[in-house]
Amino acid sequence: MSNIESVLTEKRVFPPDPAFVAKARFNADQLGALRAEAAQDPAAFWTELARKELGWQTPFTVGLDETDAPNYRWFSDGKLNVSANCIDRHLGERGDQVAIRFEGEKGDVRLLTYKELHAEVCKLANALTALGVTKGDRVVIYLPHSAEAVIAMQACARIGAIHSVVFGGFSAAALRDRIEDTGARLLITADGGHRGGNIVELKKAADEALASGCKTIEKSIVLQRTGHDIAMQAGRDLWWHDVVADQPPHSDPVWVEAEHPLFLLYTSGSTGKPKGIQHSSGGYLLGAMMTARWVFDLQAGDVFWCTADVGWITGHSYVTYGPLANGSTILIYEGAPTVPDAGRFWKICQDHGVTIFYTAPTAIRALMKAGDEWPAQYDLSKLRLLGSVGEPINPEAWMWYHRTIGGEKLPIVDTWWQTETGAIMMSPVPGATPTKPGSCTQPLPGILADVVDEAGNPVTGTEAGGYLVITHPWPSMLRSIWGDNERYIKTYWGQFNNKYYVAGDSTHRDADGYYWIMGRVDDVLNVSGHRLGTMEVESALVSHPRVAEAAVVGRPHEVKGESVFAFVTCKGARPQGDDATALVKELRDHVAKEIGAIAKPDDIRFADNLPKTRSGKIMRRLLRAIAKGEEITQDTSTLENPGIVAQLQGREG
Ligand code: WTA
Repeated sequence: MSNIESVLTEKRVFPPDPAFVAKARFNADQLGALRAEAAQDPAAFWTELARKELGWQTPFTVGLDETDAPNYRWFSDGKLNVSANCIDRHLGERGDQVAIRFEGEKGDVRLLTYKELHAEVCKLANALTALGVTKGDRVVIYLPHSAEAVIAMQACARIGAIHSVVFGGFSAAALRDRIEDTGARLLITADGGHRGGNIVELKKAADEALASGCKTIEKSIVLQRTGHDIAMQAGRDLWWHDVVADQPPHSDPVWVEAEHPLFLLYTSGSTGKPKGIQHSSGGYLLGAMMTARWVFDLQAGDVFWCTADVGWITGHSYVTYGPLANGSTILIYEGAPTVPDAGRFWKICQDHGVTIFYTAPTAIRALMKAGDEWPAQYDLSKLRLLGSVGEPINPEAWMWYHRTIGGEKLPIVDTWWQTETGAIMMSPVPGATPTKPGSCTQPLPGILADVVDEAGNPVTGTEAGGYLVITHPWPSMLRSIWGDNERYIKTYWGQFNNKYYVAGDSTHRDADGYYWIMGRVDDVLNVSGHRLGTMEVESALVSHPRVAEAAVVGRPHEVKGESVFAFVTCKGARPQGDDATALVKELRDHVAKEIGAIAKPDDIRFADNLPKTRSGKIMRRLLRAIAKGEEITQDTSTLENPGIVAQLQGREG
C-alpha cells in the first residue's frame, strides 16, 4: 500500500463564489443540515426522498430490506416505470422544452423536445414489443453516441426490457462476449458513426460478433446514421426507420418492481472477464436523479453537457437518466474533441449555450495541452459550473480548468463514484462546499464512507490513509453481478466479512474530512478514465499464437493518466530487430481486435521470461517500477535469471 503514503502538499482552498452561492440550491448550512439528518438514519432519509421524488404506480411500504444482506433491496414492493419518470411526467409542464440537443461530428444538429422524445421512445418501445421483446428480456445496444442511444435505452426501460449498452469503441470480440453473457434476444446497432473524421463500422463489427456466436440473438435493429453501404441479413436485420414507421407515438409504460433490473453494464475487474454490473430500477433512478440535482445544481434553463459516451456508467447516469428525471436539457455530441480542431468542445459550449460542463481529467489535460488560444476564441460566458469524473484530477489540470475555463469563479465539482455505485458518492456541492484541487471533498448526504486498514479497522487521525469503504447501503448501489452473485459478494463485500462495500480504491482523508482518492488497490488500470483489467489485456495478448505469457501494468501518462505497458514472453526465441518491431505492431492490433483500441498497449517489451516470486507470482511491483523507468530497489536475487531485469528494462538486445 505504498501509494497510500501520499504527499499531501496541496493546501489551496477555494470557497464558492458569492455570485454562485446567491442562486444555488444549497448553501453550506443547508447542506450541513441535510447531511446531518441523513447520517442519523440513511435508510429513512432515502426512503422519504423516494416517496417524494419518484412517481410510483404502486407505492412501496418497505424502505431498505436487509434480509439477504449484502444483497440489499430498496422499495421492493413498489412499482414504477423509469421511462415514465424521465419523460412522461414532464409532458404537462415542459413538454415543449428541449430535452436533447444533439450535434453530430459533421455539425448536423437535431433538437428533440420532451414531447418529441416521448413520441420517439414510444414508437421504438412499440416496435420492440411487436418483435416479441418483453419484460426481463435483455437487449444489447451498440450505437454511436447519439439521441437514438438515449431513445433506445428509454424504450427498453419503458417495456421493462433490460438494456446492456456496449461502448461503440469496443471490438466485435468484446461485443460478442457481452451479448453472450447477457443472453440478449435483440441487438440495436447502426450502420456506423462518425468519430475522428472516420466512420466507425459498427454494423460490420456487429455482423462479425453475430457470426462468431451470440445464438440467442433473434433480430437486430439497425439505425441508419452514416448512410454508407452495409450488408443487411434478410430475416434478421431490420432498419430502425422501418420498424417504427407504423407504430403509434404513444405506449403505456410497463410497471415494474423497484428491484427489477434496469440495465447491465460490463466493467473491468482485477480477474477474469468483465463483470455485468446489475442495476435496479427504483433505487438507481433515485440516486441518479438526486445526485444530478445536488451536484450539478440543476435549474430551469440549464443546458447540461456531460461528455461521456452512453457506453459508460457516466453516460447512463448523467446523460440518460439523472438529468432527464430532473426535466433538464442535455447535450449530446457524437464525435471527437479535436474535429475539426481543438476548439470543438468550446465551440459547442458557445453554440448551444452550455451552462454545465462535465468531463474527464484526460480530456481536460488534452485541452490544456492544446493551448489557451482555443477556448479564448469562443464565448463561454453561459458556463456556470464545471465537473470532472473518472480518475483523480491532478492539481495542475484542476487549476487550468479553474482559471482558463472557469475564469477563477466557476465551481468545479470533482465527482468520485463507480459503475458499481450507480451515482456520484463524493463530490463538492457547488455553492456549499469549499474545494481543494485534487480532492473529491466529502460524501454526499445519505452516503457514509470511511477509511479502513488491512484488518478493516477505521483509520483515525488527520492524515488517514487506507481502503475506501462505504459503510451503509445506498439505493443506487449495484444489486449483483449478472449470473454470478457469489462473485458479487466476494468482490465487493468479502474482504471485510460483508461489513463494508469495498470500492477497490485507496484514499486519504485530511484534517477537514476531505477525501483524496489515490488510485486502485487491485489490478485495474485507468486509461483515459476507462477501466481496464490487467488480466483482460493479458488474456488478449496470450490469445495471439506467438505469445506464451504476458504481464500488463500501468505507466503514468501525461494525458491518459495511465497507459498500458505490456511485458511479453514468446513461444520459441525472443523476437529481435525487425521481427520484434513487426510483432509489437501485430500485438497492438491484436489487442484492439480482441478488446478495442482503448486497450492497445503503448509499450511492449519482450523478455525470455517474466520475473516471478518463488511461489510463481509475477512480481508486478518490479514490473511497475521498470515501466516507470525507476531505479530497481527491490531484491532481485531470487530471480531465476537475474539478467532478465536488463531485458525487461529494454537495455539488452
Ligand atoms: C476512478 C466512473 C478519483 C476510481 C464513474 C474508481 C476517480 C473508478 C474519480 C471507477 C474521481 C472515478 N477521483 N478517482 N473523481 N472518479 N475514479 O467504474 O478509481 O468507470 O474506482 O466509473 O474510477 O471507474 P468507473
